[in-house]
Amino acid sequence: MTHLRAIADLSDDDIRSILDLAATFHADPLAQPDLLRGHIVATAFFEPSTRTRLSFEAAALRLGAGVIGFSDGKNTSAAKGETLEDSAKVLGGYADVLVLRHPETGAATRAATTAGIPVINAGDGAGEHPTQTLLDLFTIRQTLGALNDRKVAVIGDLKYGRTVHSLVPALQRLGAQVVQVPAAGLEFPDSVAKLPIVALEEAAASVDVLYVTRVQKERMNETPQEVLRIDRNLLERTKSRAIVMHPLPRVDEVDVDLDGLPAAKYFEQAHNGVPVRMAVLAHALGVTP
Ligand code: NCD
Repeated sequence: MTHLRAIADLSDDDIRSILDLAATFHADPLAQPDLLRGHIVATAFFEPSTRTRLSFEAAALRLGAGVIGFSDGKNTSAAKGETLEDSAKVLGGYADVLVLRHPETGAATRAATTAGIPVINAGDGAGEHPTQTLLDLFTIRQTLGALNDRKVAVIGDLKYGRTVHSLVPALQRLGAQVVQVPAAGLEFPDSVAKLPIVALEEAAASVDVLYVTRVQKERMNETPQEVLRIDRNLLERTKSRAIVMHPLPRVDEVDVDLDGLPAAKYFEQAHNGVPVRMAVLAHALGVTP
């Protein structure tokens, strides 16, 4: 079963072939309107989402699949006390692939034990968000070419932010060098990768990609001490050549005065979610064009 519970479920070759397929869908989103005809994609979202759920649903529809799902677990039997394992088993009888977002780390792994269909992790608490990583890699590749020897700084809440927990191992596997600029007390977990800490100014002056993340207030008890901010002044002062990425939603971390600059890639990045998730669904269902 081709689960995508974590980025480690994909080999380097899998990542390359998903990105290559995504590039064909990016070039012509209407080229394969029947590729997944007859398949049903379930989107089970127990946590808020705008981009991930809707880009998965758009991706399914672009390939001719049907979509069922919910965007709030409060309206499901989970509110009556049903376990995630039981809900996954039931959905496994209704659909051909399960896209799951859940507030608990490890939720996709648990669901995969009972679902009987491929489970795609669309974010599990502070755990991982592997399909975000694929669209991040796609965006870097489309903009800068090969990832090998690229320098990337991950910035902000690196402790609770799940996108970087999937992105950093993938970047390292593909030959990029990664440094961190953590907000105070929100360092990248050593258990995932030991990343050198650099100052924001130094990162802006020296890297190819500034990957900025939001403080995940919903996952912390403490009040965040610091929000690291990227603005036009920082990029000019440091003569930065970096592109600026962000999984979105942004709160205060990226100033809107950057939005018109060629370096600002975050909206393009969000739009890349559709072709990349088209490729992810095809991969999970074992369908090739
Ligand atoms: C991210 C997430 O849900 O982890 N959002 C997304 O999927 N683009 C990032 C975030 O919420 O900060």
